[in-house]
Amino acid sequence: MAKTQSQFVCNDCGAVYKKWQGRCDSCGAWNSITEEAPLSAGPAGKSLGPSRGRPVALTDLGASDTPPPRSGSGLGELDRVLGGGLVPASAILVGGDPGIGKSTLLLQAAARFALQGLSAVYVSGEEAAAQIRMRAQRLGLADAPVKLAAETSLRDILTTLDQERPSLAIIDSIQTMWADNVESAPGSVSQVRAAAHELVSFAKKRGTAVILVGHVTKEGQIAGPRVVEHMVDTVLYFEGERGHQFRILRAVKNRFGPADEIGVFEMTGAGLDEVANPSALFLSERDTPSPGSVVFAGIEGTRPVLVEIQALVAPSPLATPRRNVVGWDSGRLSMILAVLEARCGISFAGSDVYLNVAGGMRISEPAADLAVAAALLSAREDDPLPPDTVFFGEISLSGALRPITQAENRLKEAQKLGFSKAVAPSQAKTVAVDGIAVQSYADLGALVGEFFGAG
Ligand code: TYD
Ligand code: MG
Repeated sequence: MAKTQSQFVCNDCGAVYKKWQGRCDSCGAWNSITEEAPLSAGPAGKSLGPSRGRPVALTDLGASDTPPPRSGSGLGELDRVLGGGLVPASAILVGGDPGIGKSTLLLQAAARFALQGLSAVYVSGEEAAAQIRMRAQRLGLADAPVKLAAETSLRDILTTLDQERPSLAIIDSIQTMWADNVESAPGSVSQVRAAAHELVSFAKKRGTAVILVGHVTKEGQIAGPRVVEHMVDTVLYFEGERGHQFRILRAVKNRFGPADEIGVFEMTGAGLDEVANPSALFLSERDTPSPGSVVFAGIEGTRPVLVEIQALVAPSPLATPRRNVVGWDSGRLSMILAVLEARCGISFAGSDVYLNVAGGMRISEPAADLAVAAALLSAREDDPLPPDTVFFGEISLSGALRPITQAENRLKEAQKLGFSKAVAPSQAKTVAVDGIAVQSYADLGALVGEFFGAG
């Protein structure tokens, strides 16, 4: 029989090597390869043959199952992101930068959950129980019947959870958990993977909803193998700018609900407040109309959200002018600049371009193209756009405006927030929303002509 030999695995792409090396041949990442114990082949090291298992009961797709019962977490915005509440026996990973407010969010959720009469256990591997109690006091939640433990030993935690059988267990954080059957330091890939595997299995077996907190690396990934993301049912990211009070909880994967849904919170002295109307909040900091500022009517998940997009165009002393983007895709910005140059003859060569989505919001919708183009043009011409107008629409490489989804919801939200005009693809004209006049253009060139003279 072959000697069990450890193997070396790339934590970024999962490629397997016999020997350690500094750079992964398959994905090119540096320092991503770590040693791992091999998977044993069955209980006695024998291969898994067709005769050794026990036949599994097979059913058909038509079998009727009731949808999973859900219980509200007590935080409406968290429930929205989860797709309507916590599903029993599900595993949820909440990732985010250190200090962004993950522990605060989950302590609040645990407390509200417990106050409904359901059992919640909060295990912290990062803070002492006294620290957590102090935080609970600050949040005004000291009376909530949450069961608390400061512990890192996975074995002890699993034993405790097995006795308690809570409806909700929060593990803060997965990187601090230590499985004594794995020979590597806490936080290492093998440890994180083993701990996540045990906790997810526990959730499935005992029907507890388990929330794992995960820290995010500099590259913006949840530290440890991507495998953890595959193991859990739901992956949520908690994000926001440190200097801003807004925090956004975003579903990036959800087996029990729509992905891309967001929940919006505001960090206050007494914890996180839910923001029921994010558009009003994102636009509240807007001052007098200034060149380069545009309101984009976006959709996040199922909810329309209005945000301000700001552009600054300044002469550049550099041979290669700067292109700086916060909250949007920089590749997409280059594309819009290229379309403006090639289709409208408006060049940004020789200018630094800065683009910022206000409030710490991050947009990934192509529908923001038109708002970005309008912001860039307005900044370049130093000419403010009408303040009562929202923009949305995708721009194709030919410069044409392409239709987008949910035009009606966008228009309704704009109308609700006091806007009276929208510049959008012609499709938006077919949905009549009272109080909003839709202006549409065949292509970007026509829009430039209308707003900025002959262009
Ligand atoms: P925390 O939840 O500890 O972040 P994480 O678990 O993601 O590392 O939040 C830490 C920050 O939140 C800290 O800088 C202080 C701030 N904070 C408030 O502003 N108000 C509050 O009520 C609390 C509890 C924290
Ligand atoms: Mg924390």
